[in-house]
This record gives sequence, structure tokens and C-alpha cells, in this order.
Amino acid sequence: MTPWSEILLAQLQSLPFQSFQMTDIGFDAFIPENLHYNNFLESIPLFKSSDVKIHFKLDKIEPTNWNAKWESDFKPILVGDNCVIRADFHPKFNKEYELVINPKMSFGTGHHQTTFMIMEFLLNENVEGSSVLDMGCGTGILAIIASKMRAKNIDAIDNDPWCIKNSKENAVQNQCKNINVVFGNQIIKKSTSYDFILVNINRNILLDQFPSYAKALSFKGTLLISGFYIKDIPILKERAEEFGLQIVEEKEKDTWCALKLKNEKKNPKIIPQESNEVETLEEKEYEIILYNDEVNTFDHVIECLVKICDHSYIQAEQCAFIVHYSGKCGVKTGAFEELILKCNKLLEEGLSAEVV
Ligand SMILES: C[S@@+](CC[C@H](N)C(=O)[O-])C[C@H]1O[C@@H](n2cnc3c(N)ncnc32)[C@H](O)[C@@H]1O
Repeated sequence: MTPWSEILLAQLQSLPFQSFQMTDIGFDAFIPENLHYNNFLESIPLFKSSDVKIHFKLDKIEPTNWNAKWESDFKPILVGDNCVIRADFHPKFNKEYELVINPKMSFGTGHHQTTFMIMEFLLNENVEGSSVLDMGCGTGILAIIASKMRAKNIDAIDNDPWCIKNSKENAVQNQCKNINVVFGNQIIKKSTSYDFILVNINRNILLDQFPSYAKALSFKGTLLISGFYIKDIPILKERAEEFGLQIVEEKEKDTWCALKLKNEKKNPKIIPQESNEVETLEEKEYEIILYNDEVNTFDHVIECLVKICDHSYIQAEQCAFIVHYSGKCGVKTGAFEELILKCNKLLEEGLSAEVV
């Protein structure tokens, strides 16, 4: 890679790209379609420089059916000597932890270096009886392994509706009844303290979300992160330390990195509510829960509830009061797909909401 490419790569990391892949002539950069806007590259200083000419093209990638790819070339993968991840069409291995994962459209088969390293870290931990958060759960692979290692309860969050469906299906397939799958893009349950937080997303999301991990992690709790490169470690370390998170171990695989951090700050330990059932999508009516925040005005919340959740003005006003005084309020019930769309719109308006 040329020095200019390296500079460009560093500057592009200020935009919400999810990953970069080196090629023979430069690199490919991947960004979710909803975060891409016209002329967004103009904010990058190197594009304005007369010293360098940058060639690029924009391509839209259709959602990949990882299932088809999985079935065509998937081989079971062994992590350590006691854990195997396989598809349902493979024979049994009789390992201590045997995960059956059907990824469909989601990320998380165990083959990617980042997932693999987090699993390696986790398999060396004593997870029994603990509460775990899998942030960016994809297929739910990390939540499932935590459940098989006898964690007490696990929240699995993703901002992609496909991953929510897929994680629920995989949790059921693996008989994990203590995984609570939630659609959302951040930790919003204020009363939760986790012993383990697992995040395999990317550098920018980690930098942004360290404060919320530090707040939600119990004292001496463990944060396992991946989804970035060796060169990103100094900036991640500096930001993590600002919030009392200390790196205690590093792993590297093909330039990808994973870190184990400990929370050195005391947070009040509040036991999260136990979830003892994973319900299938067909069984349950879903609900959007709206949470209080310090940013949005009453008027904005009311306007959003009227516009997005079809509330009458009085209904919206009552909900806004409940949110303000009780911290949260169920604002809409209905089918999963319908609520995901509405919840996404509330999130785009800057509100804190999730579908449960
Ligand atoms: C690299 S995949 C990791 C999947 C799985 N945990 C694993 O380790 O293989 C990252 C996942 O994070 C999700 N994601 C990205 N940004 C997120 C955010 N802000 N909040 C919640 N999930 C997010 C993506 O949809 C994707 O499923």
C-alpha cells in the first residue's frame, strides 16, 4: 500500500465505514447504504489536495445470502480444543461446546479472524452465572457460546433486523433459553450491569461507545473487543483509558486485532432482569419501548410519536410524560417488521428506543 493510500485510509475512518479490505490496486471500503449520502467524500481533506489524484467508484452490494455460500463451502471450525461451530447438515462432533449456526444474511460464522479471537478469549474465561452483553450480535454466535458456557443471562443487540431474526432462530436451534435478542444501536437499559461485554464491530463504533460500555460493565468486569487493525490500538487504548477501561491482553490474526479490557471503575451492581425464554417471532407481539434521554424536548418527542407511531396528540403527550418521569414507556405494539421500521425512524430522529 502506498503512503497516500494509508493517509486516505486513516482519513476515511472518520466516516461511518464498517470495514476496509486491501486489494492489489488499493482498497475497498464498506459503508451501510443508509449512512451514505451524496458528496460525503468531500469532507475528506485528501480529496481536496492538488498533490494527489484519487480514483474511486461506488458500487451497491446486494445483501448476500451467506446461507448459500455457507452450504457451498463451509467446513466446521474448531476453536481451541473444546468448541466447534458447524452447520446443521454436518455430523455431530461431541465437543463440550457445539454450536450449530445458520448465518443466512448475517455475519458471524466463526471463520472471520475477529469472531475467532473473541471466542478464543471467551473460552478462557469463567462465564458461569454471569450476565453478558453481545453488542452487534450478527448470527448470535457469541451470545450462544456464552449461554453454552452457562452464563446466567445474555442480552444480544443488533441494529440490523436480519440479524435479530437470525439470532433468535440460532438461539432456538441451540436451545439457548436465556438469550434476550433486542433490536437497537446502543445500550439503553440504564439498570443493567454486565460481567462481560463482547463487541465485534469496528473502530469508530468502539470509540463512540466506550463510555456506555464502561457505564454498563460491573467493577472488574471484562470487555472483549475486535473489528479493528493493529494500527488502531493506540487510539482505542487512549479512549478506553479515559473511561477506566484497561487493556490486559492483546491478540492478532492476519493484521486484525482483539483486546481484552478490564473495568477498573466501580459501578453499582444491579442484577439485570432474568429472561428465561426465547420466543419465536410468530409467538409474540412486539413492543417499542421509548427511553428517557437528556437531549430531546417534550415537543420533539410528541411530534415523533404522532408522526411515526400514529399517536393522537394527547396519547403522545401522556407517553412523553411517562418517559420523562418513569424513564421509559411502551409506545407501540405490533408485528416485528412493522415495529422495526418505526423504531428505526425514532432512532433517526435522535430518540432512544428499542423493540422487545
Ligand atoms: C462484524 S459483525 C459481528 C457479528 C458477531 N458478533 C461476530 O462476532 O461474528 C458486526 C455486527 O454489528 C452490527 N452493528 C453494527 N453497528 C451496530 C450498532 N451501532 N449497534 C448494534 N449493532 C451494530 C452489524 O449489523 C453486525 O451484525
